[in-house]
Amino acid sequence: MKVCMVGTGYVGLVTGACLAESGNYVRCVDIDVEKCSALNNGEIPIYEPGLDVMVSRNAKQGRLKFTTDISYGVEGADFVFIAVGTPPGPDGSADLSFVMEVARQIGRTITTPTLVVTKSTVPVGTTLQVQSIIRSELEDRGLDLDFDIAFCPEFLREGSAIGDFMHPDRVVIGVETDRARESLVRLFSPLTGDENSIYSMNIPSAELTKYAANAMLATRISFMNELARFCEVSEADVEDVKRGIGSDSRIGPRFLNPGIGYGGSCFPKDVKALMDSSAKKGVKMSILEAVEQVNLSQKTLPVRWLKEIEGEDLSHLTVAIWGLSFKPDTDDMREAPSVEIARELTESGASVRAFDPVAMDKAREILGDSVTYGDDGYGILEGADCLILATEWALFREPDFQAMKDLMAKPIVLDGRNVYDPEEMEEKGFIYRSVGRPR
Ligand code: UGA
Repeated sequence: MKVCMVGTGYVGLVTGACLAESGNYVRCVDIDVEKCSALNNGEIPIYEPGLDVMVSRNAKQGRLKFTTDISYGVEGADFVFIAVGTPPGPDGSADLSFVMEVARQIGRTITTPTLVVTKSTVPVGTTLQVQSIIRSELEDRGLDLDFDIAFCPEFLREGSAIGDFMHPDRVVIGVETDRARESLVRLFSPLTGDENSIYSMNIPSAELTKYAANAMLATRISFMNELARFCEVSEADVEDVKRGIGSDSRIGPRFLNPGIGYGGSCFPKDVKALMDSSAKKGVKMSILEAVEQVNLSQKTLPVRWLKEIEGEDLSHLTVAIWGLSFKPDTDDMREAPSVEIARELTESGASVRAFDPVAMDKAREILGDSVTYGDDGYGILEGADCLILATEWALFREPDFQAMKDLMAKPIVLDGRNVYDPEEMEEKGFIYRSVGRPR
């Protein structure tokens, strides 16, 4: 089948490459000339394991092309996907200007019937607005094209996006007609293996499903983080409580890991956008207000630990941070807890050194010279008074503890991701803190 993907950001690029990999002919459209020519040469602008190889392979085999020309992109396409950004506006609402502009361009350029699918995360009602815009552009051109409209949310996680796309738990589609449903089932059933994991519903339900999924996951995380605070003062171990509740099949074990809060481009933005769009219809989501509040204060938990150990004045301290990206296997720094930690430490006068295996360049753009950047994890420990583990990259999981102790001026380890064993750390002579576990 022929697919046009408008937008080659994270979602558009992964979706376009994976649809080409599963045998479709995909034309990706972006307004960025340099980005398109780099992509046509197999250069990938983001870090996502496996994506570079997949893009080059499909480009070489002629199934994946990048263009700035939307007329060429939509020519003869069975599907036109809209996968442009919906960044948060100043009030937390999703900025839909890119989506609406793409809808106008689609209405101005399509010449044959097609199925227009919104893939960007958008508030309830947006896809039907996209439909009206396309209709009115077609009317202006005097064309009566029988196009369909649909919404198909993405559930990709950064770092494992290709696996998530190629082997999805489920695919959700929001449609108005049987014809649109059948086309999307044909496109996605090779990935799900059968039709049973494709959940078809009306468009508003599908739009809300996307926000609800992310908001539910964010809620689980903030709930566990708040529970961890109670564990800290009641001799309970949040990791045991997690196992205890996660084994209840009604709850399930995943996304219950306590830590220093959720970050990234999705959970924070989608929680805000859901609060905003529901408030506009008169429904106040108080639960999400609390989810957001807990998350904000959770990010700087290691700084509070350090003040408990060293007192309020941190100006004499050198602090090393391991891991800067918002989670492992990505260079994405958006809403990363490490940024808040580094800012609060430097504001308190501490010297901060940092190392991340992949996200250093992006970190520099945000933190600038306020932080010293090292070439490896051990180098930044020399003479440091404290280590904060902010991101649980695999290479930090089993470090050489003796080497760490020998290098550090004080053996303080603040584990924001509950990676190390508290008893073992105590035996080894570290002053160790972790989230919601007994000291
Ligand atoms: C999230 C969703 O998991 C995807 O399904 C969705 O498609 C995506 O947002 C999106 O809307 O585009 P992502 O932001 O890549 O994916 O990252 P996650 O793996 O979900 O992690 C989000 C944050 O939660 C990270 O900061 C992570 O450290 C934190 N987290 C996750 C926890 O603190 N505890 C957990 O148990 C799990």
